Amino acid sequence: MTFKRKPLPYDLGALHPFVSEEQMDYHYNKHHEAYFKKLNGLVDGKPESEWDLETLVKKSQGAVFNNAAQAWNHAFFWECMIPSGNQKPKGELLKALEKDFGSLDLFKKELLDKAAALFGSGWAWVAKDAQGKLEILPLGNADTPLKYNKTPILTIDVWEHAYYIDYRNERPKFVEKFWEVIHWDFVDKCFLSR
Ligand SMILES: [Fe+2]
Repeated sequence: MTFKRKPLPYDLGALHPFVSEEQMDYHYNKHHEAYFKKLNGLVDGKPESEWDLETLVKKSQGAVFNNAAQAWNHAFFWECMIPSGNQKPKGELLKALEKDFGSLDLFKKELLDKAAALFGSGWAWVAKDAQGKLEILPLGNADTPLKYNKTPILTIDVWEHAYYIDYRNERPKFVEKFWEVIHWDFVDKCFLSR
């Protein structure tokens, strides 16, 4: 068995003006695809090639982990965005954000500040721990809350390849605009799932 990308949940150009079709084309068709290609090469003929991707992320290390996690992280990231945008968190999720961060505005500020400040390549995650508490985890390279038995509910890819075509070096502008395309129904589904 080989690991395969799922189709994007929207057209390549659908998130414009947040990101252009060219930016998404490179990100999805070049970078995301490359992680799958490398992963399949690394696990070819090994028992790990029969595992599901999430299990592989949780149990692997080194190059297999890096490529499996980047394959999983990007699939999750695509779901975190929606072209129509301008949704808002509501219900139990909104209550939890207010309880754990003080208010929705304070949550937004902390998430965007930490995403902008993360040194080098990585991901700004929002995750739920075993007690149900939400936290923001800025993690380097391919690292993911799955490794710490936490449930990811939202992420921002802050690798330069995620924004450099459209935003050049201006990561803070990219993360500020990300806020407008968050797919809150998906975040809510992840928040309630486990
Ligand atoms: Fe990426």
